[in-house]
Amino acid sequence: MRLDKFLSITATATRKETARAVRAGQVCVNGSPAGRADLAIDPERDTVTFGGKTVFYKAFRYVLLNKPDGYVSATEDGKDPTVLELLPPLYTDLGLFPCGRLDKHTLGLMLLTNNGDVAHRLLSPRRHVAKRYAFRVKFPLNESDCSRFRDGVTLEDGYETKPAEIELAADGRSGTVTLIEGKYHQIKRMMEALHNQITYLERVTFGPLALPADLERGAWRELTPEEEQAILAAASV
Ligand code: URA
Repeated sequence: MRLDKFLSITATATRKETARAVRAGQVCVNGSPAGRADLAIDPERDTVTFGGKTVFYKAFRYVLLNKPDGYVSATEDGKDPTVLELLPPLYTDLGLFPCGRLDKHTLGLMLLTNNGDVAHRLLSPRRHVAKRYAFRVKFPLNESDCSRFRDGVTLEDGYETKPAEIELAADGRSGTVTLIEGKYHQIKRMMEALHNQITYLERVTFGPLALPADLERGAWRELTPEEEQAILAAASV
């Protein structure tokens, strides 16, 4: 693999930055200055340092993002800003894409990765990875509405949803819903089937991941090693 590609996929430096750092003698391979940005290296065996710091090889990246209102869960869109636009160019060059979709006006936890296999497994209906959402609705819900959620709701197109957990707050108009599937606009359509209407929706968990309280709307970070282990375990079940 080329040195500049290695430094780009490890989110260390863009190709331009690498070229500059190589010229300044700040990039070493096995202790010697690299000399050329297109030097062929073996990422598994060679030791690369950038500005004196060792760069560890990481083919796959997992980013947790707190999706703001108005952004779409896509890599490109002709009309609206995409969640990818919230990441610096160094990260967008890694080939990250959203693992599943949230509607344009849904907020909260979004996982992005460049590991297609893991994303595919996490989204597979067979795996039943649970996602919890905090919601508010226009009209108060009652116990019979909650029972319908727990039994499964028939949507307007005739689809019978899988049972969903629902917890209602004292006001009857807010709470949490946990889904083990992810149909298009599912919660909105489940509420519509009960003649109600979602006014706020925020994903707060995705499998073993929880939206960190200190991650501001629009902010992102890579998964911690523990979170990464947990998500890989959820994908391998
Ligand atoms: N259900 C919805 O209706 N919208 C989402 O974004 C997620 C779940």
